[in-house]
Amino acid sequence: MEIIVQNNNFHIKTINTSYIFTVTAGGHLRHLYYGKKIQNPNFDIITEPFEFALGNSIVSNKEKLFLPENTLLDFAGCGKGDTREGCVIIENSDTSFVNEFLYKTHEIKNDVQQIDGMPYAKDNGIKSLSLIITLEDKLNNITINQYYKIMQDSDVITRFSEIINNGNEIFVHRLMSNMLDINSKDFTVNSLWGRWSNEANLACQTLENQIVIDSKCGTSSSRHNPFFFLKSSDEYIAFNLIYSGNHKAIIEKNSFGKTRVLQGMSDFNFRYPLQNGQKLVSPQAIMCYNKSEQEMQKNMHDFVNNHIVPNNFKEKPRPILINSWEATYFNFNESKLLKLAKEAKELGIELFVLDDGWFGQRNDDTSSLGDWHVNTKKLPNSINGLCDKINKMGMQFGIWIEPEMVNENSQLFKEHPEYAIKGNGDYNLGRNQLILDLSNKDVVQYLKTTFDDLLSSANITYVKWDMNRIFTDMQGKTLKNQGMFFYEYNKGLIELYTHLTTKFPDILFENCASGGNRFDLGMLCFSPQIWASDNTDGAERLKIQKNLLLGYPPSTIGAHVSDKINHQTLRKVPLASRFHISAFGVLGYELNLCDLPKDEKQEIKNQIVYYKKHRQTLQFGFTSAFTTGNVTQFNAIAKDGKTAIVMAMQSLSVPHSPTLTIKLPSGLIEKANYSIKSRVFDLSVKDFGSLINYISPVTIKQDGVLHNAVDKFYKMKSETHEFIATGEQLMNSGFYLPFAFCGTGYNDNVRFFPDFASRIYEINIIE
Ligand code: GLA
Repeated sequence: MEIIVQNNNFHIKTINTSYIFTVTAGGHLRHLYYGKKIQNPNFDIITEPFEFALGNSIVSNKEKLFLPENTLLDFAGCGKGDTREGCVIIENSDTSFVNEFLYKTHEIKNDVQQIDGMPYAKDNGIKSLSLIITLEDKLNNITINQYYKIMQDSDVITRFSEIINNGNEIFVHRLMSNMLDINSKDFTVNSLWGRWSNEANLACQTLENQIVIDSKCGTSSSRHNPFFFLKSSDEYIAFNLIYSGNHKAIIEKNSFGKTRVLQGMSDFNFRYPLQNGQKLVSPQAIMCYNKSEQEMQKNMHDFVNNHIVPNNFKEKPRPILINSWEATYFNFNESKLLKLAKEAKELGIELFVLDDGWFGQRNDDTSSLGDWHVNTKKLPNSINGLCDKINKMGMQFGIWIEPEMVNENSQLFKEHPEYAIKGNGDYNLGRNQLILDLSNKDVVQYLKTTFDDLLSSANITYVKWDMNRIFTDMQGKTLKNQGMFFYEYNKGLIELYTHLTTKFPDILFENCASGGNRFDLGMLCFSPQIWASDNTDGAERLKIQKNLLLGYPPSTIGAHVSDKINHQTLRKVPLASRFHISAFGVLGYELNLCDLPKDEKQEIKNQIVYYKKHRQTLQFGFTSAFTTGNVTQFNAIAKDGKTAIVMAMQSLSVPHSPTLTIKLPSGLIEKANYSIKSRVFDLSVKDFGSLINYISPVTIKQDGVLHNAVDKFYKMKSETHEFIATGEQLMNSGFYLPFAFCGTGYNDNVRFFPDFASRIYEINIIE
């Protein structure tokens, strides 16, 4: 890690990459290179030569051969001839929108931390370097500081902006965090989009002119996640933003064949006033240059694990939980919860989570948000009493809250209608609720006190922080300008989260926003894991988790095994597969365990033993996933390369298809020998339908008494598949799975593989 300044050239070196820009004679920041590391670059040959200004191009008055719209830049203002989108849009004190920011000075500092009122990537004891470039628009009396930061253990470059007004009042309409100009290749822009219950679809768009990835929801949203990457034949450049509010990325290829990436807060409804002496900071953006998808994933995962999640949860094993939501919804009392907890404990579950419905008069979703006092009809011994009983069983206790919300039908709304965001006229509800105005300091203070009280009232070690609607009717009644609203709301939210996580540093927060509506690095700075989706269907989860893994590590992805007939899709996915996919995230269960037949309880018990044994690899190993045809493969490889877990699951079965193979990605030790072993689990004879009669000496009627009895007392096993191979072979040839059943013939070595079936293998080094 190094930042070298030579003449006017700035060279930021991470472990494997170089980022180079220069200051031109006229003071513009001109971008030269971003890519694999070049130890001693010749700056001349990476500076595009211009001899004449062609056609109707604008030429900078300050330097004759500076062509604003045809030059790679490191910072772009507005109205001086660069026709691409710029880093800032400012309404100057004379109401003009023209700004030219030129280099004034720079500074290199060690270990700069903290960004005012923003979540940020923490050094966590790792050395870091920051380059601060100060730019000035002399005419309008405005200064901008660009902070580039690198850390010793990472290839990620973080960047944010700070704008300071030194003149009369101005209005900032846009302040981007990061800008990258590169000569165009044939890039595709890859990003995650979706909606409730259908998050994290992967869009891969060819960059022809302009692509915008943004959210106007008020949250980072499931509509468009702030993580995205540019891909060419041999490059993967990844971007993300440490922020949970509206975001915007503009990826533009201009007519001169240059690509510009801008990242930051969205400029939607944004008009932030700055008086003389006032400043505004942007969130921190992250960017990383990689040569392969695997390298990109690894860099993203390591960065999140090492610098984003709270330090005391770094590599800390996450507990296996039972969540009451899909088990009971609103319909519970203490004894029902205790039965569920007891059952969970017997199966090996470590944490009991009481979801929605425990407070006020909340028996459905029409009331009581805001009234955070226990419903003693349901829980006569209060939260503390329930928590004690669960602790006594040997389990941790966690609770669901939705601090940012209020129902009209609540005590809080009656007493403080002004706390809710509802504009000036008719307002819209979402899930029957309104959002509290966190741009109002009184509201933030009120929430701090309320949740201080709740979280200290019992031995709570986990909190599920939910947020179940998006913003409308935006108006912060205490703000002098509504263009500040989204920024100030997020500051309030960050203040509240900072307060609670500082006061209760050992509580594990799991963020949720109707599932993955706020799956972002801003939230991960406070809550080490996020409920990825309300959709718990194992088949759907393949896609959601696989795509999230492109930018986020498995330790951040909450994944639960739910009921046989899925509550979102009504699909039936085998229990083993529901577990196999959930195992590649933070495992939980969310179903009524008490109602399960004995054999399913036993299977869950076995699953939990398996997960505990491999938890470190599954949560903190390097995990990747890919789909070939109808099969998706997930791989988790321990950091030391000595253990791996690999899983293959198919969507709809394709008859008589070639035998499935599994090949490990890199990460194993080439020369080492490994033992490979499939997880063996029970199969139900009923799943073979009337085929059972081919092996049965007597005819068995489908679903008849005999069929049920055989199913109860006789379990078939999935095939056993064990062998030894070198790391080299596992990563190159891979291996065939056993032959799959297809209509004729069956023996113990045949793989029974219907729709949504899966196999998981453990791979252990032989020392
Ligand atoms: C949201 C969450 C669910 C559950 C319910 C409770 O939908 O995403 O997991 O907590 O709220 O109301």
